[in-house]
Amino acid sequence: MLLKSCSRAIFIYTICASAAVYNWDVTWVLRNPDGLLTRPVIGINGQWPPPAIHANVGEQITVVLTNQLGNETTGMHFHGFFQEGTNSMDGPTGITQCPIGPGETFTYITTVNQYGTYWYHSHNRGQYPDGFRGPIIIHDPQSPHANQYDEELVLTLSDWYHQQIPDLLGNFLSPTLNTDGAEPIPDSAIINDNATTSFSVTPGKTYMVRIINVSNFAAFLVKFDQHEMTIVEVDGTYTKAQPTDLIYMSSAQRMSVLITAKPNANQNFAFVGAMDPNMFDSDPSTLNLNATGYLVYDDKKPLPSTEPTFASYTDGFFDDFDLVPYDETKLFGPVTKQITLNVSSGTYFNQNRFAINNISYVEPKVPTLYTVMSVGEAATNPAVYGEYSSPQIVNFNDVVEVVINNSDDGGHPVHMHGHNFQMIERSPTSAGVYGGTSTGAPATPIRRDVIKVNGGGYLVYRFVADNPDKSTLSPQIDIN
Ligand SMILES: *[C@@H]1O[C@H](CO)[C@@H](O)[C@H](O)[C@H]1NC(C)=O
Ligand SMILES: *[C@@H]1O[C@H](CO)[C@@H](O)[C@H](O)[C@H]1NC(C)=O
Ligand SMILES: *[C@@H]1O[C@H](CO)[C@@H](O)[C@H](O)[C@H]1NC(C)=O
Ligand SMILES: *[C@@H]1O[C@H](CO)[C@@H](O)[C@H](O)[C@H]1NC(C)=O
Ligand SMILES: *[C@@H]1O[C@H](CO)[C@@H](O)[C@H](O)[C@H]1NC(C)=O
Ligand SMILES: *[C@@H]1O[C@H](CO)[C@@H](O)[C@H](O)[C@H]1NC(C)=O
Ligand SMILES: *[C@@H]1O[C@H](CO)[C@@H](O)[C@H](O)[C@H]1NC(C)=O
Repeated sequence: MLLKSCSRAIFIYTICASAAVYNWDVTWVLRNPDGLLTRPVIGINGQWPPPAIHANVGEQITVVLTNQLGNETTGMHFHGFFQEGTNSMDGPTGITQCPIGPGETFTYITTVNQYGTYWYHSHNRGQYPDGFRGPIIIHDPQSPHANQYDEELVLTLSDWYHQQIPDLLGNFLSPTLNTDGAEPIPDSAIINDNATTSFSVTPGKTYMVRIINVSNFAAFLVKFDQHEMTIVEVDGTYTKAQPTDLIYMSSAQRMSVLITAKPNANQNFAFVGAMDPNMFDSDPSTLNLNATGYLVYDDKKPLPSTEPTFASYTDGFFDDFDLVPYDETKLFGPVTKQITLNVSSGTYFNQNRFAINNISYVEPKVPTLYTVMSVGEAATNPAVYGEYSSPQIVNFNDVVEVVINNSDDGGHPVHMHGHNFQMIERSPTSAGVYGGTSTGAPATPIRRDVIKVNGGGYLVYRFVADNPDKSTLSPQIDIN
């Protein structure tokens, strides 16, 4: 009898623990994260910074999202989730769902069979830099790095703008207000949504710091004073332990690093998150590119008055291309489909816009997924998706190689939904177009879901078109 009620209790506990429900109202709140200006930001249940989602591998996450903004539509994307069998829960409006109107509710239900560091954000009309973005942490008791650290910390990096996105977007698009098509420049850099962030640390302990770049535009370099970092995860892929003292992160990228605290509490140390000014078309002298944080060993001792520095924004940091996945998954191949995407900026519809293969995207009235589900056999005919998208049709289990030729002089992060990809080749800045033959893919390329293409350069990556059935063993090839 006792045993029975015990196992019943355990059973109920298992059900509860495996199905977290978040009831979230999306609301305006007033905040001043950089200490320079109080402005309306988009929060959750009146809270900002928005809450983090924590779950374990295999758990179901439900977010009942109600739009209480009153004057804007919204939507929520789970960045990096493969959404196997739950494509309609992915969140980008115009692609997998309609925008959520004021007063409306959309319920997202997804089961996450991935581990690692992710984030959620509005995927509606460039809205997230107004505040609607936060961390998602998927804990993994089986992590190969689990016994290498004592505690976890979450560190978000972001650019911050005093103007709101609808205004920034209007100015950016206008060829008369913005004659050279320059992207808006942020007003400050923030760490954990604050001008100053401190982490309390205990001597001798090792911390796994989950660094998430939730920036709109700016890329960051990160350095801790006199504390080496060891990279162990990028974008939900465990890596072979890789020590470094400087990392570079593009918008939407995540990196988990191990940091071991000094053996004593003799002093406190600073760390810096520095925005890369090379991404900005102009560099106003009033802008402080750097946000400073602290590792606090003893809160009665002073905080350091200087931050760690580094010599260059273009080298000296660890190149993510050289990371090795912990599982040593081999190069996917042979390639069965190659896709070339020419990325450019220019004037389309009398606006400053970006284009892929000379087509600038216009959100379809019918979300793409609904078209897929309603046109039957015609779903493999690109024409049904409208003339202002660049649809690419692939076969199930194709090994797809994507070549991105970036003719824009700025670097840009490239992200893919539903999959991660192997990084095959990345040219330096201004290298011109891809020659069509690889100069040598790594034998075990790193997999991630965001990669930066350099200005005037190219990028080659591969993925297996195996969603929703990732149980199929991906084809892999040996190279010498
Ligand atoms: C930033 O952090 C300080 C100190 O912890 C706190 O007083 C302040 O309210 C924070 N600002 C915001 C906008 O959260
Ligand atoms: C919606 O309302 C908020 C809060 O008053 C305001 O800051 C924001 O600019 C408004 N958005 C639009 C598109 O007018
Ligand atoms: C975040 O990503 C953006 C866009 O690529 C980049 O400009 C910025 O420097 C990154 N910031 C950090 C702290 O990694
Ligand atoms: C920001 O960091 C960079 C790199 O260390 C440094 O060159 C620059 O002087 C810093 N800026 C400020 C305002 O401290
Ligand atoms: C990309 O641009 C090059 C040169 O302008 C052109 O030859 C090629 O056909 C373009 N590729 C696509 C897919 O549009
Ligand atoms: C891009 O498309 C426009 C029409 O929208 C055309 O005038 C232009 O020649 C095209 N450019 C290239 C490089 O194909
Ligand atoms: C882009 O890459 C392909 C190789 O896949 C190349 O043939 C093409 O000419 C390139 N086009 C441009 C505009 O860069």
